[in-house]
Amino acid sequence: AWEGTTDAERPEVSQAVQAAKGNDFWWPQTLDLAPLRQNASDYSPLGPDFNYREAFLELDLEEVKSDIEALMTESQDWWPADYGHYGPFFIRMAWHSAGTYRLADGRGGAAGGQQRFEPLNSWPDNTNLDKARQLLWPIKKKYGDALSWADLMVLTGNVAMESMGFKTIGFAGGREDDWEPDLVYWGPEGEFLGSKERFAGGELEKPLGASVMGLIYVNPEGPNGSGDPLEAAERIRLTFGRMAMNDEETVALIAGGHTFGKAHGAHKPDDCLSREPAALGTENQGIGWNNSCGKGHSEDTVTSGLEGAWTADPARWTHQYLTFLFEYDWERGESPAGAIQYHPAGGEADSLVPDAHRDDVRHAPMMLTTDLALKEDPAYREISMRFLEDPAEFEDAFARAWFKLTHRDMGPRSNYLGSMVPEGEFIWQDPVPEVSNPISTSDASRLKQEIMASDLTVPQLVRAAWASASSFRESDQRGGTNGARLRFAPQNQWAANSPQEITEVMAVLSDIQQRFNEAGGRQVSMADLLVLGGAAAIEKAAQDAGQDVSVTFRPGRGDATEDMTDGESFVHLEPKADAFRNYYSSEARLTPAQAMVDKADMLGLTIPEMTALIGGMRALGATHGGGEMGVLTDNPGQLTNDFFVNLMDIGTVWEKIGDYTYVGRDRASGEEKWQASEVDLVFGSNAELRAAAERYAYDGGDERLAHDFVRAWTKVMNLGRPQEPSRG
Ligand code: HEM
Repeated sequence: AWEGTTDAERPEVSQAVQAAKGNDFWWPQTLDLAPLRQNASDYSPLGPDFNYREAFLELDLEEVKSDIEALMTESQDWWPADYGHYGPFFIRMAWHSAGTYRLADGRGGAAGGQQRFEPLNSWPDNTNLDKARQLLWPIKKKYGDALSWADLMVLTGNVAMESMGFKTIGFAGGREDDWEPDLVYWGPEGEFLGSKERFAGGELEKPLGASVMGLIYVNPEGPNGSGDPLEAAERIRLTFGRMAMNDEETVALIAGGHTFGKAHGAHKPDDCLSREPAALGTENQGIGWNNSCGKGHSEDTVTSGLEGAWTADPARWTHQYLTFLFEYDWERGESPAGAIQYHPAGGEADSLVPDAHRDDVRHAPMMLTTDLALKEDPAYREISMRFLEDPAEFEDAFARAWFKLTHRDMGPRSNYLGSMVPEGEFIWQDPVPEVSNPISTSDASRLKQEIMASDLTVPQLVRAAWASASSFRESDQRGGTNGARLRFAPQNQWAANSPQEITEVMAVLSDIQQRFNEAGGRQVSMADLLVLGGAAAIEKAAQDAGQDVSVTFRPGRGDATEDMTDGESFVHLEPKADAFRNYYSSEARLTPAQAMVDKADMLGLTIPEMTALIGGMRALGATHGGGEMGVLTDNPGQLTNDFFVNLMDIGTVWEKIGDYTYVGRDRASGEEKWQASEVDLVFGSNAELRAAAERYAYDGGDERLAHDFVRAWTKVMNLGRPQEPSRG
């Protein structure tokens, strides 16, 4: 039923002629650096001086809300509103905008407004949402840059619910729009609606969140269209879990969402629908799925191929979804398009539901296979029944889960904007207490001296600061130095962080902290101390190499407690590979070089920044466990450009000795000089990385490296901090 695309009406699309072939066409194994180029281009037509936070805060949100609210019931002839209300349609739009989020890598989600771009814009699951955004255009047109599409889509979902009588707990603005499609791995299949390959290894491939290519989560007819609610339950649990939703949140979301609106499958998609927007000719102007059956909209609308409403009052908040779910025995049947769905047995309730457009037509309610999962699966059933008996609890659970769903990828609460932000904090926001009395510049100098007077070494301090900062993910703004969650589990147990060493470093820093804080007055956090330790170590290492370098330090990081940490969702931040420390584990999903690009992308780095950081950290000897791998210098612990000079030395011949590991021998004597990994040598073998690396190997390149390294380092140390706009 979801195969709503057909070649039958495919218009003439002119073949691109004389298009350049990427090098991956000739050499598919070429390392893809595109994500880092994307970080560098920072492309936005708004220009560097535009500040979205400021622009958004100038908006009169009440006015925006009432404009959106008015639009809900102004039915347009080109796409008339079901039941005279666009609310349900807009909720589906908002849910699909946020629902691509996945916990494993934090990618997807509402931030960025990616639904406007391919592939999401043309995904089968997003059928007809092109019209939803088109309906919203008057609002976007009025408020322009001050209201991003990303914020507008989520806000509209909220206003829709409120306008139909559901009380949400609020809305936060602050999602800046992207201006190009994000590069996200959505799965191995080369075909929409395929799902075999992602399960080829037995379980759903990580980091994927959906069980089918081109769907937000699951097939509404059950896995592979089985029509089996119990099988569907398994998939729902798997995929909603991948988005950090537990059973209770999952039941609340599905039951709450399907209280509104209807499914659309008046005809067979194959008989009626043209292809998706991306496949159509220019004259379609970004609108796809043209429907040639009947009116082409209203009672002839074809979206999923499933048909009907869940409740008898689909444009109002009611408790009918759960009531009906348990009141009726549901019998398997078919939509007019031939898709599996369920109806009350024995024709009961056949005229309970009004038609969305025709006064004289009535229907039975329906349930999708996935809806029945909420009744058939024992764990879901228990929750559904509890919600049925206690509507207030249900409403509270739905309101919270909806807020989480739509705000999950915005990072800390300090990123939230506007007058509708709910009071209080949620554990999934990774809260960090504010610091009231942070240290001064002179305190910082004194503390740095104390740190360097301890037994801690340059590599130890650099590794610890890096371990703290590099947990950051730009994709959902989690992790980073703020909070110093490196102090406890799970982060202090991660193999990449060398648990024993971290404990030792932390003990020394903690002593220093105590001495300082006991004096009263200004207080230093462990989060700041870790960063300060890194800065002190780098300044020393630069000095030892004859470079006069100072590392800028901005205090004010707070220390979170274990109570404030959702350990279960935090485990997903664990690095299974970290090229910067030359760390690679068998659990890594990508090759070392690919994982390096991925990590650099998460940190929002450009190619030169990544290059400077790798070369600098190798010179500092800051490799995992202090290993010699990649430390191409005779003076580890000094901030030199030796890594690059030695890498470019044709006097070394490299030989592969294991998976991704190599030795370098003197070309003349054959004597072993160095050990290196794939991520070290890729800076010599990949032409684009080599071009970046050469500049640091120039004569006198020491100074350039020290300068660029410190800049990139400082950027990483401040990722995810308030006032540090790091997205976009
Ligand atoms: C509609 C599937 C979860 C909100 C639909 C439709 C399908 C579907 C097939 C019909 C689309 C059409 O033909 O127009 C699913 C599945 C889910 C799920 C398989 C998860 C197992 C959710 C959630 C929400 C939601 C979590 C929101 C909280 C809606 C709304 C509509 C809808 C409001 C009605 C749209 C309209 O009236 O135009 N869903 N859904 N759904 N869904 Fe879901």
